[in-house]
Amino acid sequence: MLSYKSILLYSSLALQVQASLYHFTNPTTCCSLLHSEFHGGPSKVFSSIAPQYEALTFYWTPTAKVLPRCVFTPYNTNDVKKAVKLFARRNCQFAVRSGGHSYNPGWAGIKDGILISLGNMNQTTYDMNTKLATVEGGSRWTDVYGALLPYNVTVLGGRNSDLGVGGYLTGGGISFYANKEGFAADNIASVEIVLGDGTVINASRHHHPDLLRSIKGGSNNFGIITKFRLMTVNANGLFNGWYMRYPFASTDAYLAAAERYCKVGADEDTNSHIIFSASIVGTNPMTNVALMAYDGALDPLSPPSVLEPFFNGTVSSPTFQWFAPNGTIKSATDGLRDAQGSGNRYTMTTLSIHVKLSLLKQLREAWLLETALTENLQTTPGFLVQFAFQPVGKKWIAASEAKGGNSMGITKPLAIMWIQLRWDNESDDNKMLQYSRRLISKFESISARAGNPARFRYLNYGDRFHKNDIIPSYGSDNVKRLQRTKKRYDPDNVFGRLVPGGFKIPGY
Ligand SMILES: Cc1cc2nc3c(=O)[nH]c(=O)nc-3n(C[C@H](O)[C@H](O)[C@H](O)COP(=O)(O)OP(=O)(O)OC[C@H]3O[C@@H](n4cnc5c(N)ncnc54)[C@H](O)[C@@H]3O)c2cc1C
Ligand SMILES: *[C@@H]1O[C@H](CO)[C@@H](O)[C@H](O)[C@H]1NC(C)=O
Ligand SMILES: *[C@@H]1O[C@H](CO)[C@@H](O)[C@H](O)[C@H]1NC(C)=O
Ligand SMILES: *[C@@H]1O[C@H](CO)[C@@H](O)[C@H](O)[C@H]1NC(C)=O
Ligand SMILES: *[C@@H]1O[C@H](CO)[C@@H](O)[C@H](O)[C@H]1NC(C)=O
Ligand SMILES: *[C@@H]1O[C@H](CO)[C@@H](O)[C@H](O)[C@H]1NC(C)=O
Ligand SMILES: *[C@@H]1O[C@H](CO)[C@@H](O)[C@H](O)[C@H]1NC(C)=O
Repeated sequence: MLSYKSILLYSSLALQVQASLYHFTNPTTCCSLLHSEFHGGPSKVFSSIAPQYEALTFYWTPTAKVLPRCVFTPYNTNDVKKAVKLFARRNCQFAVRSGGHSYNPGWAGIKDGILISLGNMNQTTYDMNTKLATVEGGSRWTDVYGALLPYNVTVLGGRNSDLGVGGYLTGGGISFYANKEGFAADNIASVEIVLGDGTVINASRHHHPDLLRSIKGGSNNFGIITKFRLMTVNANGLFNGWYMRYPFASTDAYLAAAERYCKVGADEDTNSHIIFSASIVGTNPMTNVALMAYDGALDPLSPPSVLEPFFNGTVSSPTFQWFAPNGTIKSATDGLRDAQGSGNRYTMTTLSIHVKLSLLKQLREAWLLETALTENLQTTPGFLVQFAFQPVGKKWIAASEAKGGNSMGITKPLAIMWIQLRWDNESDDNKMLQYSRRLISKFESISARAGNPARFRYLNYGDRFHKNDIIPSYGSDNVKRLQRTKKRYDPDNVFGRLVPGGFKIPGY
């Protein structure tokens, strides 16, 4: 029998062997191998001196920007397959990018390695017989919605139409239809995916069901998704989106109305959708801002009953502002894209809670206090902080379950909560990141003290400091399924050891 000591010795030897096996090839060599593989035809490999390089390395927020040695721009699944095979064989490190909306540097980018940018793979088609849309992995939602509206249908996608489909769907995806239809990922009927050994497979509920389920929240850990086949919903009628603003003095009533909507409202009328937020811009006082949408007609003088308290003075001094009157899902999400313009430095961080009015109030107060007490915070050029939450109700959870389940492990209603920060200058990055980390850990301890804390952290709002804490927040049964799927579909851990960016599965 092996002694404990010899096991230790053996495992440290194994680690050394592993380390030398996994010696990475110099990225310049990888880029030139790629270049020879794809010589002839249109250019698909761009180094930093190429005029296209600048646009290909543009991110929604410059906080996410890192510079790759070269960018590879595949046109089809076969291109992706050839590249992944090459990278796996030669130990080339790479990153995968769809819309580039991640807030975290190196998630959809890589310093010095190779960036696979899927932007050319942006086609959407619709099959009237199956009612499924086929969407390529590098599309943006504005193009997807635009291609489907002529058929009077749409899919569950970004509330901001500029987001890419690849990151959004593999991270879960919160859409305006969530209260009725679950996460956007729940509405994936099947995917075409390029695995770490270059094999291309379709995963559906009938073929490779464990893989399909695992990618619903499993991010970039299993392969590169080249096509999503998505269930559609009717988009024949009007779609409306608007903001409601309330002054500081309305805060208690606003939170009370928010509590009621979280506990029962979202389930009472699943055509409705509300993000409850509050923001502080510069040194101005905090204001309450609810982003609302309705799948159907909206007359602000006689709103659907679940929304009445937000209009009729129960929450006092409302100000109403359209972003999409009598529009479509496309005009609403294009409206938000334009309102949430790119170019500023941003970060995002998240947790979830079980909603209770007293807890909402405590969190709100802790946020205001921390903001006021942090020196030179509100005078930071470009300063904006947004504190937001929205419910995941019973019907949302039931819809997820009915469509086959996902990886995220939400079994009881909760509210996903997030803090988004904006500022102008790179020199303030540290200060802002520290502030957001302090806030989230305060929130965690307040929510733990209130009893019955929620464990879930939403991947698409996760920050870099939670790199290894997002997937564990799905719970141990889900982590075990993800690990089993990983072992079966990426046995060489290509998407762990060669892809440094993203939220990782424990052990990989
Ligand atoms: C202004 C703004 C608004 C937002 N609004 C919403 C919202 O309404 N609802 C919501 O849920 N989220 C929202 N988000 C968060 C958003 O979902 C994430 O940022 C998401 O990652 C964006 O998808 P992307 O394709 O643009 O991501 P990218 O930044 O391109 O990629 C993110 C991650 O996904 C991986 N990935 C991308 N494509 C693929 C693929 N084809 N196969 C495998 N892995 C892939 C990348 O490797 C990377 O790790 C918003 C973000 C911003 C900045
Ligand atoms: C979609 O891809 C095509 C082909 O590469 C490209 O010409 C086009 O600009 C892309 N469309 C968008 C909106 O990015
Ligand atoms: C879509 O709806 C409009 C208006 O309701 C109708 O005129 C049109 O024929 C529909 N198109 C399709 C493809 O069903
Ligand atoms: C995946 O499914 C599509 C559509 O059903 C089919 O055309 C394609 O050949 C399948 N691919 C593989 C690798 O099975
Ligand atoms: C506002 O609407 C709510 C919910 O419908 C109702 O309970 C309340 O009495 C109304 N208040 C006023 C001032 O009309
Ligand atoms: C929206 O349409 C309704 C009729 O469906 C109409 O009464 C209303 O004036 C329209 N609102 C706007 C802002 O265009
Ligand atoms: C910071 O931002 C302000 C205003 O946007 C700008 O004028 C200033 O030059 C910036 N400072 C640094 C150090 O970048």
